[in-house]
Amino acid sequence: AKAQGAAASRYAFDELQWGNDTTHHIADGYNADILVRWGDPITADAPDFDVMNQTAAAQAKQFGYNNDYVGFAEIEPGRGMLCVNHEYTNEEVMFPGLGRQDNQDFAGMTKELVDIEMAAHGGSVFEIVKGADGKWSINRDNPANRRITAETPMTFSGPAAGHDRLKTSADPEGMRVLGTINNCAGGMTPWGTYLMAEENFHGYFWTDKLDADGDPDISEQPEAASMKRYGVPGRWYAWGKYHDRFNIDLEPNEPNRFGYIVEVDPMNPDAPPIKHTALGRFRHEGAETTVASDGKLVIYSGDDNRFDYQYKWVSAEAVTEENAVFGSSLLSEGTLYVARFNDDGTVDWLPLVHGEGPLTVENGFNSQADVSIDTRLAADLLGATPMDRPEDAQPRGDGTAYIMLTNNSRRQPDQVDAANPRPESNFGHIIEIKEEGGNHSATTGTWSILVLCGDPDVEEVGAMWNPETSDAGWFASPDNCAIDSAGRLWISTDQGSGWGRTGKSDGLYGLETEGDLRGHSKLFFRCPVGGELCGPYFADESRTLFLAVQHPGTDGVSAMVGFERNSTFEDPATRWPDFHPAMPPRPSVVVVTKEDGGVIAV
Ligand code: FEO
Ligand code: CA
Ligand code: CA
Ligand code: CA
Repeated sequence: AKAQGAAASRYAFDELQWGNDTTHHIADGYNADILVRWGDPITADAPDFDVMNQTAAAQAKQFGYNNDYVGFAEIEPGRGMLCVNHEYTNEEVMFPGLGRQDNQDFAGMTKELVDIEMAAHGGSVFEIVKGADGKWSINRDNPANRRITAETPMTFSGPAAGHDRLKTSADPEGMRVLGTINNCAGGMTPWGTYLMAEENFHGYFWTDKLDADGDPDISEQPEAASMKRYGVPGRWYAWGKYHDRFNIDLEPNEPNRFGYIVEVDPMNPDAPPIKHTALGRFRHEGAETTVASDGKLVIYSGDDNRFDYQYKWVSAEAVTEENAVFGSSLLSEGTLYVARFNDDGTVDWLPLVHGEGPLTVENGFNSQADVSIDTRLAADLLGATPMDRPEDAQPRGDGTAYIMLTNNSRRQPDQVDAANPRPESNFGHIIEIKEEGGNHSATTGTWSILVLCGDPDVEEVGAMWNPETSDAGWFASPDNCAIDSAGRLWISTDQGSGWGRTGKSDGLYGLETEGDLRGHSKLFFRCPVGGELCGPYFADESRTLFLAVQHPGTDGVSAMVGFERNSTFEDPATRWPDFHPAMPPRPSVVVVTKEDGGVIAV
């Protein structure tokens, strides 16, 4: 065991011990209270949760499944709208007795169950209030409270809006789409609207055409090259058996309507969300925003796939009082860039602009709409750097950005480069970018590796941490991240089914970025078994921290505690957070406060 550099740490808390058990843990001196669970009513007219008799109509008014991004739009101190993404569903722990479905035929999935799944996706927006006791609770009576689901009507903005490739039989104008799916991380704009990133949208599309190996056969599809690059159809869900628009044999353009950044006005439940196509179409992990030193809006967004890219958006205009509004042109007029990390420690941001460089008609890009729809194919032509799965990216006001590269077990020794230096990387790493002149809208900058993750005591892992980091402090597979009001970096992890490699549950860590302790990490919170940690989001001048525990009891559980990976409803690895024999584990948002009500980690 190594000594802990607590004396000099900028994170003033006593480090938690690492481990893995059925419940969550927080550093001494802090509360970590359950704020909202899957199924909790969030509107005034929502029925109470009845897990044995769930319906789609009930689910559409209750908190959805697998909470991921958490944002907060403050109305006044101690009151505001919580904004939470619901990334995906785990049928084996949602529906009693169903078990894990075989994705060839989904024999147990009825239309009723599919419709519950669709209502459990999307997002939740609802008022929360801080009481005199310092505890937060839901105010169900705010009429602005709403669920956004896979069937909520929304519109498009930007170059692909109304384009032929977005038209379907239900929407001959290509301007109106139902729903948002697989909303992973996200962001809040400087003016308080909520950005939901559509990540693994490909998984929801269906085909009845299978090849001899049982894999989707898209050879007859007119857009086969694009579909192949995006992994469409993934056939992860049975939705296309009951909803024609998710069947590409019937609606080949429907997948072109997903994979965007979606903007929601948390204060106006009547405003249809907007899919901003100018920000590109890929497996958007998140959409964290900042205002650059020249006043422009900048949004960092990774494409979470092995060997895919890091992007950023720069608005054409500076942010003003007039344009800092829902549906702003700041999200439709500007330039999308993709990163090339050069081996000399510089980064170039390559513009994805039709007619520039290789993005020409000859190469299949007829207009900026094609660049917006086939962003991955455009970035391929520009020579962007294939990364180890870019997850969340977090800008800080000083022109710095942190890029989470979660892992990439498929990188071969001949594919390593300076920015992705380890073959078969199981543990991931974090890159720090310093934009030129401290300006987030710059098209060049420098980069360095902040940490190479994994166990520093196992030589073949090749980890790099500050040597003062304790056995509890190192982590694997960084996923989400946040900056608190003091400018400090916090990292949450998602080891997925690979957590048995470390034996540690996923958690939240404070990671030093400056001075002698740069690369020093401390464990603050950890998840119950089989859950990953999402959020994190600091609000209330860093007196409140929202965390989202996703899929408790499911991920990689067989390896360590003797349950099958896909535990039956009757025999889960944990029943967190209810610990009631008739309740499965439930994804839930946790709210962290200091026992004395003070600023966290100060
Ligand atoms: Fe949904 Fe890339 O995590
Ligand atoms: Ca993620
Ligand atoms: Ca992840
Ligand atoms: Ca996840």
